[in-house]
Amino acid sequence: MENVRPDLTVDFAGITLKNPVMTASGTFGSGMEYSEYVDLSRLGAVVTKGVSSTPWAGNPTPRVAEVPSGMLNAIGLQNPGVETFIERDLAFLSKEDVVVGVNVCGHSREEYLEVVEALAGQERVDFLEINISCPNVKQGALAFGQDPKEVEAITKAIKEKAKVPVVMKLTPNVTSIAEIAKAAEAGGADGISLINTLTGMKVDVERQSFLLANKTGGMSGPAVHPIAVRMVYEAANAVSLPIIGMGGITTWQDAVEMMLVGATAVSVGTANFMNPTATVDIIEGIEDYLSRHGIASVKDIIGRVKE
Ligand SMILES: Cc1cc2nc3c(=O)[nH]c(=O)nc-3n(C[C@H](O)[C@H](O)[C@H](O)COP(=O)(O)O)c2cc1C
Repeated sequence: MENVRPDLTVDFAGITLKNPVMTASGTFGSGMEYSEYVDLSRLGAVVTKGVSSTPWAGNPTPRVAEVPSGMLNAIGLQNPGVETFIERDLAFLSKEDVVVGVNVCGHSREEYLEVVEALAGQERVDFLEINISCPNVKQGALAFGQDPKEVEAITKAIKEKAKVPVVMKLTPNVTSIAEIAKAAEAGGADGISLINTLTGMKVDVERQSFLLANKTGGMSGPAVHPIAVRMVYEAANAVSLPIIGMGGITTWQDAVEMMLVGATAVSVGTANFMNPTATVDIIEGIEDYLSRHGIASVKDIIGRVKE
């Protein structure tokens, strides 16, 4: 049999991606720094760091800590605000041949809508990922993501203003991820992404104090992967929306696992800090896997282990 290269393209909420591998928000900036190591045009999409309507300073330091097989962060969504984001980050990404997802954050429904409106005229924004799940800001964000009524209402409000597909990013810090996923679907979301970080804490026993100035932080990295797989599986069985699966994806096996349980695409986060070329390594690994199994298209593995 001839060696035909497998088709890696996927359709996500009406957008054709070259392959299913994206960058997870907050772990890849806007791609500028990483472009020294990674040809951005090889990626399925770049998803940017969360952007708010005005600049946010983030939380006091220390705000990251290493833990076994993962990390805790309490950055607090530090960002320069949407105006600078458009002038600097989006201008940079506009020159790259890559799908661009912009991650949006806010303290209130109005703040989210301000960012969505500011981005509505920007041609290089292909989709929005709405972070209703960050555990590191005191007001807003996580509170929205934990209440199904709020999830539905904020999704609906954003859908009225947005000009591109809207992906709601869900928190794992809930009892029923299926219920939250259904609320996003009821609000008219075009897709969902999960998981954001799990709330954790670390104490410095010598100093007898919290390691992070914020006391709690969001846990990410390989240790959270099995939790993320379980949650993507539950969400995939609850809704018919396309899903971006993430949480601890470090190897191509982790990415394939996410797709088998129902993710259409995946995002690679903390792994970028350990290996700046993790995304392209994972794309190559998926391609080899499909070839080895004689699978013609990566679309064919989506949801194969779902029921
Ligand atoms: C340092 C850091 C910053 C992050 N910033 C954001 C952010 O701005 N917006 C967001 O939605 N998620 C943010 N996240 C969450 C990641 O996008 C991802 O959902 C989470 O880390 C799980 O994936 P991972 O284990 O592959 O990192 C951040 C994660 C880390 C580690």
